[in-house]
Amino acid sequence: MKKVYIETMGCQMNKSDSERIVGMLSHFDYEECTNPREADLLIVNTCSIRQLSANKAYSQIGVWGKWKRHRPIKIGFCGCVAQQDREGLMKRFPYLDLVFGTHNIYELPELIKRVEAGEQVCAITEIPYKTDETQYKIERKGNLNAWIPIIEGCNNFCTYCIVPYTRGRERSREMDVIIDEAKKAVAQGFKEITLLGQNVDSYGKDFKDGKTTLANLLRELNKIEGTFRIRFVTSYPTDITDDLIDAVDECDKVCKYFHIPMQSGNSEVLKKMNRRYDREQYKSIVEKIRKRFKHVTITSDFIAGFPGETEEQFQDTLSAIKELQLDYSNTAAYSPRERTVAAKWTDKFLSEEVKYERLERLNEVNKEACIESNKRFVGEVLDVLVEDVKVRDGKRIITSRAGNNKIVHFESETAQIGDFANVKIEKASMWCVKGTQV
Ligand code: SAH
Ligand code: SF4
Ligand code: F3S
Repeated sequence: MKKVYIETMGCQMNKSDSERIVGMLSHFDYEECTNPREADLLIVNTCSIRQLSANKAYSQIGVWGKWKRHRPIKIGFCGCVAQQDREGLMKRFPYLDLVFGTHNIYELPELIKRVEAGEQVCAITEIPYKTDETQYKIERKGNLNAWIPIIEGCNNFCTYCIVPYTRGRERSREMDVIIDEAKKAVAQGFKEITLLGQNVDSYGKDFKDGKTTLANLLRELNKIEGTFRIRFVTSYPTDITDDLIDAVDECDKVCKYFHIPMQSGNSEVLKKMNRRYDREQYKSIVEKIRKRFKHVTITSDFIAGFPGETEEQFQDTLSAIKELQLDYSNTAAYSPRERTVAAKWTDKFLSEEVKYERLERLNEVNKEACIESNKRFVGEVLDVLVEDVKVRDGKRIITSRAGNNKIVHFESETAQIGDFANVKIEKASMWCVKGTQV
């Protein structure tokens, strides 16, 4: 067996892609290794969401490039930076053996043969490579959570975002294929299925049949027998339909958790971002969800220092987190991305100092919101899945995750990884809660 090492950067979609890449390579006598120094083939699966993420990818292959002087290794570069930079990558990093885009993952079996024959290969197309994906294994990481992509790409073209350029237009996968993958994962013992998409709630729109929707997919998946739970990320605020909320309510296996990026708390900024909602609309969606589910959490993403954002407009972001009691938010300073609309508004760019100072304040407010959120669960009983067990001072300390995504610690003599349990919350800290099994 030859050895492949894959370094995965970026979002869950990339993590899922990496599992599929390793799965495909396993049909060609490659097995995954965890030590890059032992690998025959090294692949970096890259993220382009911010300049920092892209730079991480470049420095990684810089390191591997030096190893090539001493060992006959092959180096591959894929993911969103590959799709963005294209042939330029080979010129800039001549020691790359293989570059492939996000649309070319399933072309890998053919590409790898050419690479092994000594060719330098670059495969990046605008159109997804068509094949029967079900013929290949998926080498899933761990044994608790199984990622299942349900929709790829994005049609929204938010003015700051690179994803529509790196992932192409929205393409939903057939419901049957998804259900089949989920059944296999459950049969293999996975306890959680996470449905993935840049906008999961757009699922099925491209089929135009009215039946292929995220709500109906959840209903179908909920029928699969076994003890497991279902999650879905990421939701676009205005694509969350009443039917979806009904389905989440009806389906006992579906976690009461929504990740709904707001991006900014100011309606003017939202318009400039080309988000299709304003502050009030976002607020009404959050309120609708909170009214429906007792222990629901709602998490979000925010960008600080979007071009032209005033201090007053930024204050609206801070106040939105507090007013809507958002349970947790991912935060980032605006990073201009080539080809996107906002990247051309250079006269409106804010200085790095202003952006990072705002980001710091945003993070402070986010921290307070997290503590407040955790405090709200003191006295409540949460349904958790055990993820880790550690022995400290003779006591077994359990790390688990609730359906609503809270990290929950408790002590137990017996609980094992993969067990479900109910825990009464007694103490809240910033990033987790503690309780007792009931
Ligand atoms: N599809 C999801 C988000 C995908 S990208 C949605 O629509 O919400 C993940 C997050 O990265 C975004 O929510 C945004 O907050 C952040 N992001 C995207 N482009 C960015 C940029 N140019 N600069 C800073 N943050 C960015
Ligand atoms: Fe990017 Fe907007 Fe698409 Fe999300 S919805 S992936 S932020 S373009
Ligand atoms: Fe990054 Fe691509 Fe995901 S840009 S966030 S890896 S879709």
